[in-house]
Amino acid sequence: MTGCTKRWKSGPLRQIPEFTWKNVQMNSYDPFSLIYDPAISWLYRKHRVYAAHSLRLDLGSHVLVPGCGTGLDFEFLSPAVGPEGRVVGIDFSRGMLKRAEHRVRRKKWRNVQLKEGDARELDSMDLPPFDRILFFLTLSVLPDWHSIFMKAWERLEDGGRCVIFDVHASRRVPQSWVVESVARADVSRRTWEPLLELAPDAQHEQIAGSPHIHGGDLHFCVGTKG
Ligand SMILES: C[S@@+](CC[C@H](N)C(=O)[O-])C[C@H]1O[C@@H](n2cnc3c(N)ncnc32)[C@H](O)[C@@H]1O
Repeated sequence: MTGCTKRWKSGPLRQIPEFTWKNVQMNSYDPFSLIYDPAISWLYRKHRVYAAHSLRLDLGSHVLVPGCGTGLDFEFLSPAVGPEGRVVGIDFSRGMLKRAEHRVRRKKWRNVQLKEGDARELDSMDLPPFDRILFFLTLSVLPDWHSIFMKAWERLEDGGRCVIFDVHASRRVPQSWVVESVARADVSRRTWEPLLELAPDAQHEQIAGSPHIHGGDLHFCVGTKG
């Protein structure tokens, strides 16, 4: 992560993120983490089940989850990949990751690893190979989302599957502005398009949902590399 280091009076060297608007935006998830699970978990549960199912997980699959947040997807990923498999969640927000860590410890998911980091640096992160990627409510939020998608796609093994689930508003309603300001999302992004272009078998669908609840329509895309 770009930034300067500062020595605190007690404790080890701590990384201070560079002060940029994008970093401030990403850190806004720290306070949001306090209410994230009660606010969001019920709303997208069935979509998480569908996304995990569409990844066609096998025992031993290795799943990358950029912007994993509090780890709400893990309960559908961890048991499906089994002890030989691996789920790696990356997130920029310490607050969100703390909740994810708590969840992983409580559920005793030994195959889940969490990494604090900026997904913009996915190309240079020291990560194992992956055969599955899940972007769930993430590409509408990440800065430089297209470049992050490409970096993750580069890391996906041939034959690996990628799933994108996100909100997109072709016509804004009041709830679109609420979602954009609370979740720091940009609901104008057509997040499924890069996958549609790259995966020969990609399938895109609009899922039933109300823009007055989600801030836009729900879009789902799945595709295989190579
Ligand atoms: C709307 S939340 C989605 C969380 C999770 N995928 C879910 O489905 O509940 C978006 C997440 O992206 C994370 N995020 C934002 N910018 C990031 C970045 N540059 N690198 C990694 N994570 C980032 C936020 O901290 C937040 O946890």
